[in-house]
Amino acid sequence: MITFKKIDATHAYAGMARIQGSSIGFVPTMGALHDGHLSLVRRAKEENDLVIVSIFVNPIQFNNAGDLEKYPRNLDRDIVLLESAGCDVVFAPDAAEMYPEPIEKHYDFGGLETVMEGAFRPGHFNGVAIVVDKLFRITLPHRAYFGEKDYQQLAIIQALVKQEKLDVEIVPCPIRREHDGLAMSSRNERLTEQMRAAAPAIYQWLLHARAMAASHTAGEIEKMVIAETQKNPLLRLEYFTIANEETLQAVTGRISPGDRAFIAVFAGDIRLIDNLKLI
Ligand code: PAJ
Repeated sequence: MITFKKIDATHAYAGMARIQGSSIGFVPTMGALHDGHLSLVRRAKEENDLVIVSIFVNPIQFNNAGDLEKYPRNLDRDIVLLESAGCDVVFAPDAAEMYPEPIEKHYDFGGLETVMEGAFRPGHFNGVAIVVDKLFRITLPHRAYFGEKDYQQLAIIQALVKQEKLDVEIVPCPIRREHDGLAMSSRNERLTEQMRAAAPAIYQWLLHARAMAASHTAGEIEKMVIAETQKNPLLRLEYFTIANEETLQAVTGRISPGDRAFIAVFAGDIRLIDNLKLI
């Protein structure tokens, strides 16, 4: 496995691999890797000749300075994990390499970016789109792998690829969970023991929502989840929304195929998100 810190070296390596006829699978990450990330890397390895993983905690997608500062970082450990998952190339630039000067670009994803995460984290998806577009141009992938854990991000990247006419196939990958159902996340590392014990309730609420989907309206399900969250002193609900998985717009009445429940919760200052297909 090779590690590059520079854009030019990475771009040259990817370009050479393409000329030699290798297919390139790319997995963008912010590091502090767990089995969710590694499941994407293993999938990329199965489907491509060369796997490139980027590790870059992208400052312009954080709307909260404390969250950026406290985001877990452990490059040495990540490199060991990536080697064992079959990664060929790690691209780990610093912020000065990625943003020698600020990128002033404003994307419009037709409403996908203004709801849910976009409503509570203004500017977040613009920062994600800027960095992913730049990473694609550096790593020249045939396929890029994104987790359904960040379902809205996945939808926005699909819109980005269409809008910018990028020649890359976006491969959605299922959410990896801990044994108790908590969706794997780099931020889980920051949970106290008590918070960690409370956090699987998030998945339980989603399962409860799914169990109600055939016989209840979106409004009734939302009421149930809000009432459940209010009983839990360690988790504070930011939003629970049932939305169509294509448009991401909220559903109010009966649940139809393709509707998904989305949730964001705070445990202290740690923000956790999850989602589940309802029907
Ligand atoms: P990060 O949060 O590190 O996630 C990198 C990729 O891993 C994303 O596609 C995410 O959806 C996926 N992932 C995270 N947890 C997962 C889980 N439990 N199961 C399956 N996949 C999971 O998402 C980002 O980084 C950044 O926004 C990025 C795309 C790298 C742009 O900066």
